[in-house]
Amino acid sequence: MLASAECMTVEQRALLRHRKRSVYPFLQASGYIRGVTGMTITVKARHPALGAEIHGVDMRQPLDAETLQEVVDAWMKHLVVVFPGQHITDQEHVAFTRQLGEPEIFHQTSLHLRSDGVKEIFLVSNVDERDRLMRPSEPSQKQLSSSRMWHTDSSYRPMPSVGSLLHGIEISRTGGMTQFINMYMVYEDLPERLRSEVEGRKARHDFSMLHRLVGSPAPTPEEQAAMPPVWHPLVRRHPVTGRKSLYISSIYNDAIEGMDDAAAHRLIEDLTAFSAQPKYMYRHEWEPDDVLMWDNRCTVHAVTPHDPDERRVMHRTTIVGREPVLAG
Ligand code: OGA
Ligand code: MN
Repeated sequence: MLASAECMTVEQRALLRHRKRSVYPFLQASGYIRGVTGMTITVKARHPALGAEIHGVDMRQPLDAETLQEVVDAWMKHLVVVFPGQHITDQEHVAFTRQLGEPEIFHQTSLHLRSDGVKEIFLVSNVDERDRLMRPSEPSQKQLSSSRMWHTDSSYRPMPSVGSLLHGIEISRTGGMTQFINMYMVYEDLPERLRSEVEGRKARHDFSMLHRLVGSPAPTPEEQAAMPPVWHPLVRRHPVTGRKSLYISSIYNDAIEGMDDAAAHRLIEDLTAFSAQPKYMYRHEWEPDDVLMWDNRCTVHAVTPHDPDERRVMHRTTIVGREPVLAG
């Protein structure tokens, strides 16, 4: 006898699907079986623009190929997905990420934002690895404060990240909401004035902008050499969906082709303001052990402030990009 859906192994689930298919081929042909019994995951939208919750995935187990494909399909459709109730270790977090791509290793080591224990983990926390609550004035916290501004992760790399997975370990109740914008919709709705400014143009993305923006320490010469500024198209085409989106990352953009600094700054500000409209935005209110997975190619995100006396411990993996940004 097979166990209940929650505690079945991947193999048991696959066997069950197979049996249902052989017993009820007419239902499968009609597509009905998936809604009734056969589906391993359920996906429920959380906002009309983007964001959905996925149930039926245990991130501690490897996914079978079919379930993985269902997860990826839901991700490509909803851009941001949340897996609630995932009691995972850092190692399990990294192993799950590996099913989607290679995890990035953060190039900057001086601020201890990269975990000492598991080097693929980026610490989005105000508690250090010795369990000490850090003050907002500390260098790592200053640097992290930049994530309150709209951005997409690792856009300063020549091949920017595909997506990120953030695990809420100790979540904030006084703020700390992570907000996302659907940049496909933003691109489609851009007013003519803004559209004509971005078509065919590139913007520069520079990691050292963080230092100029929030006063965190300047990158060391080695860090600077490892991550020189890069130019990416302002309109990009998604390699999986083929859709065009606006590609800006306000905390890293420091120049735009053919514009002086003031005009470039104004344009990024105008584009960001246009993007940050509630109709394009999903705001994630965290529950402990939510894992949020977003697509860095077609969304931007920003976290809301929270009481600095409240602990907030979040661990992130970031999926390495394998191709340059495609011009849209
Ligand atoms: C990130 C980030 C979001 C948050 O993890 O990439 O920008 O909620 N932070 O802290
Ligand atoms: Mn981020």
